[in-house]
Amino acid sequence: MQVVETVKEVRKAVAEARAGGEWIGCVPTMGALHAGHMSLVEDCSERTDFVVVTIFVNPTQFGPNEDLSKYPRPLEDDLEKCREAGVDLVYTPEVPAMYPEGFETYVKLEHLPKRLEGEHRPTHFRGVTTIVTKLFNIVQPDVACFGQKDYQQQTLIRRMVRDLDMPIEIVVCPTVREADGLALSSRNIYLSDDERRSALSLYASLQLAQDRIKAGDTDLTGIRQAMLDLMASHSHVTPDYATIADVDSLESLDSPVPRMVALVAATVGQTRLIDNLVIDIHSRRRTHGA
Ligand code: PAJ
Repeated sequence: MQVVETVKEVRKAVAEARAGGEWIGCVPTMGALHAGHMSLVEDCSERTDFVVVTIFVNPTQFGPNEDLSKYPRPLEDDLEKCREAGVDLVYTPEVPAMYPEGFETYVKLEHLPKRLEGEHRPTHFRGVTTIVTKLFNIVQPDVACFGQKDYQQQTLIRRMVRDLDMPIEIVVCPTVREADGLALSSRNIYLSDDERRSALSLYASLQLAQDRIKAGDTDLTGIRQAMLDLMASHSHVTPDYATIADVDSLESLDSPVPRMVALVAATVGQTRLIDNLVIDIHSRRRTHGA
């Protein structure tokens, strides 16, 4: 496995692989790799011949009061996980190389970034779409894998790739959870035992929405309120939003449609967590053979 820090080295390694007829895959990450990240690597390895993992804690996607400086950076552990997973190249650029003096070009979507996470984190997605564009330009992958865990992020990236004709297949991989349902996140390490127990209320509220909708409840306003109430009933949890939305536009729905996404965000102690669940009404009918 090669570990490189410069654009030149990435381009050289990728050009060699491509010259050998290899299909290039890319998994962008901010490191602190867990089983969720590694599931993307595994999926990417199945689809491509040469897998590039990027590890870069991207400053432009953090707000002024967010956790940029304390974000975990266990590089040696991350490299070991990549080695075990058979990754071909790890790219770990430094901040000044990605954002040189005088940097002023950003990639920004018009509407999608303003909803949900964007209301709480107004500059976050501009940072994400800019760094992902840069990484795509540097690695030039055929396939790039993202997690459903960050639902709005993957929606934006798929939209950007379509709108700007980027020749990259975007694969969205399912959310990996702990046995008790907590979605894996690099930020879970900030949670105390007590907070971790309360954090389960995010997934519980998504399941509540799914159960009620699948049972035929059409009162989405009432369901949203029940989701917020469920989260708020746990100590340490301050809900931010709970919504049931269109799977592509992320606009809040008035009544159920065949396929929807329930999304939640809450602060647990000092840690902001997000989660989501795609709710497919027809799958119930198929399962029950109706
Ligand atoms: P990061 O939070 O490190 O996540 C990297 C990738 O792992 C994202 O595509 C994310 O959705 C996915 N992921 C995280 N937790 C997951 C889980 N429990 N199950 C499945 N996939 C999971 O997302 C980012 O970094 C950054 O915004 C980035 C895209 C790298 C741009 O800086």
